[in-house]
Amino acid sequence: MHIGVLTGGGDCPGLNAVIRAVVRKGVADYGDRFTGFRDGWRGAMEDLTMPLDVEAVRGILPRGGTILGSSRTNPYATEDGPSRVAKTMAELGVDALIAIGGEDTLGVAAKLTESGTAPVVGVPKTIDNDLGGTDFTFGFDTAVHVATEAIDRLHTTAESHHRVLIVEVMGRHAGWIALHSGLAGGANVILIPERPFDIDEVCAYVERRFASHYAPIIVVAEGAAPVAGTLSVRQAEKDAFGHERLGGIGDLLAREIEARTGKEARATVLGHTQRGGSPSPFDRWLATRFGLHAIDAVHDGAFGSMVALRGTDIVRVSMAQAAGELKTVTPELYAEAEIFFG
Ligand code: F6P
Repeated sequence: MHIGVLTGGGDCPGLNAVIRAVVRKGVADYGDRFTGFRDGWRGAMEDLTMPLDVEAVRGILPRGGTILGSSRTNPYATEDGPSRVAKTMAELGVDALIAIGGEDTLGVAAKLTESGTAPVVGVPKTIDNDLGGTDFTFGFDTAVHVATEAIDRLHTTAESHHRVLIVEVMGRHAGWIALHSGLAGGANVILIPERPFDIDEVCAYVERRFASHYAPIIVVAEGAAPVAGTLSVRQAEKDAFGHERLGGIGDLLAREIEARTGKEARATVLGHTQRGGSPSPFDRWLATRFGLHAIDAVHDGAFGSMVALRGTDIVRVSMAQAAGELKTVTPELYAEAEIFFG
């Protein structure tokens, strides 16, 4: 078969490991040939391609980012977007696609498959780990490593200066990175989008921590928000899928905590450092297995499915369902972390 591969949405450590596994198994077991589409759906719409053979994927396993490039282009944002994808595939003689992405990229892939425009198998990625249908997405473990290391480092400087240090991590709609790194790093408060925070309660935790002669570390997910009507948060710009570009909650918290407690507070925004660099061994393992199973799914004609991790097994789930289902932190998991607050 001739198979097109693309990576869409925010990049994530492990994308190259998927691409490598798809190509290696496709060539070795099935005699496939591949075309790489550049920059996500933009490449499929605008016929932007690169050769993708065994030579092209040599040495990329530990490399962060994606050799194919990525974008947040949405074919459904323009009327002729989907037909342009079909036209590109027809002209190149591409039989099927493997789309590696998060809710947006896979949502598009599911629609293209359902409408008969293009047969697509999906591979889930996002550092946010908020995609339904799979226990974990690759990229998440690496992001948690980066955030935990930052928290470890911030503890010592917070102690030296008797300051409140706030670490703002990624997580637009779900607080998985904040929860896991906060627990692993021994944070004194963890704030996540799923649970609007009460600034008075946060300040009480800060005072309690100082009363025990230690300095508090607060981990806040970028999408965390105060209880409605209690603090004003500025409006953000939106991208092609209608998502707000977030950031700024850490600084807002630092200002409020200083004003309310009189303690010095500073924010560190980890931003894209969480998405860059080499994938962790777990993410390489997961991404590689996803790639191996995705190529099998193509040959089984399992279009519209997404490979997913369940326990230690790789299974196939409905891509439309997974892409439409936001996996959030449960109140029970948050309650576990709360034991360590203050
Ligand atoms: O979805 C992954 C993610 O890293 C989010 O955590 C974050 O809000 C967003 O992407 C940032 O996107 P961009 O790099 O386009 O600003």
